[in-house]
Amino acid sequence: MSLLVTIPARTVRMFKALLVNEENGTYTAEVTDLDESLLPEGDLLVKVEYSTLNYKDGMVIKGLGRLVSKYPHIPGVDLVGEVLETNSERFGVGDKVIVTGFRVGEIHWGGFSQLARVRSEWAVRLPENLSGHEAMAIGTAGLSAMFGILALERHGLVPDEREVLITGAVGGVGSVAVATLASLGYRVAASTGRPEESDYLKGLGAATIVAREELSTPGQRPLESERWSGCIDAVGGVTLGRVISQLCRNSSVAAVGLAGGGKFEASVMPFLLRGVSLLGIDSVNAPLALRETAWRRLGSDLPKQLLASMTSEATLEDLPEMAQQILDGHVKGRVVVKI
Ligand SMILES: NC(=O)c1ccc[n+]([C@@H]2O[C@H](COP(=O)([O-])OP(=O)(O)OC[C@H]3O[C@@H](n4cnc5c(N)ncnc54)[C@H](OP(=O)(O)O)[C@@H]3O)[C@@H](O)[C@H]2O)c1
Repeated sequence: MSLLVTIPARTVRMFKALLVNEENGTYTAEVTDLDESLLPEGDLLVKVEYSTLNYKDGMVIKGLGRLVSKYPHIPGVDLVGEVLETNSERFGVGDKVIVTGFRVGEIHWGGFSQLARVRSEWAVRLPENLSGHEAMAIGTAGLSAMFGILALERHGLVPDEREVLITGAVGGVGSVAVATLASLGYRVAASTGRPEESDYLKGLGAATIVAREELSTPGQRPLESERWSGCIDAVGGVTLGRVISQLCRNSSVAAVGLAGGGKFEASVMPFLLRGVSLLGIDSVNAPLALRETAWRRLGSDLPKQLLASMTSEATLEDLPEMAQQILDGHVKGRVVVKI
């Protein structure tokens, strides 16, 4: 008797993704149908539910900053979704995971895609106090704001009558920092170049609005009046140097971003005579334990209704246009990408 066993052919999954191509220095981004076999190696295949637009995604879509080493490329530094396949010991099929950083969306294909194959060590479990949509409303921008808050707390920041400054306040990092610190009981000063968004910032909890120009021109003295009990700085450049000269004794600034420039000049006087600290924030290589703490804190400390009020939605098709808008500083708060 002969036994014939038919092994069903494994269906190849097809998926849509935003694919960036480069030709003679010109970059194009288009939603494209791809098949699973094109995905890079990794031990975690994720059905992406949401991604989000970060400043860095704008750079990658527009081909700026030499962040991508190989084309064609799928951007998207953040993603949340369900595990479809894995042989990792940390996760099982059906688990909800968040992937951010580790140069996903830069040198590895990222989250602007219905399917992503990544390494399990880049993923954290979606915390119980956040939905996938909320996690991506936070995204790397919000996670970095929380890394900044955690760094300031480690250096002694506590709520008191003095003001904590947030620069680039209407942006993603800024909006999450304003809302979280205000709800933790801090007096928040929000610096913005968009005075028309003052009501938005006050709605997130800002007590004071500071005009961008107050900080974006060089100061005359190495030590100005002590003004800030701490700062989350998303702007860098001249602003960072100016903030350092205005920090209160023994307080710190967390340097998160460079939306206003990558170079800054400052006197050493505030470090020597006021004991201030400059704290660097690196969201790309942050260790898993710190990520898990930050996600948990965001789930508990950032009120969900404030998160919703700073969040808009986009589709993959919207991203090429929105990439330019975020680079031009025209995006308000956070953008969730529905995959
Ligand atoms: N360290 C990390 O790991 C990490 C992680 C995430 C992001 N980042 C960096 O953090 C920065 C902010 O990211 P984001 O996602 O919040 O971007 P975003 O949403 O575009 O916000 C940036 C904000 O900076 C302000 N701004 C823009 N251009 C400026 C200029 N020329 N001078 C002064 N202020 C300017 C604007 O705020 P107003 O309109 O309120 O003035 C803008 O909304 C970016 O540089 C990003 O690359 C770093």
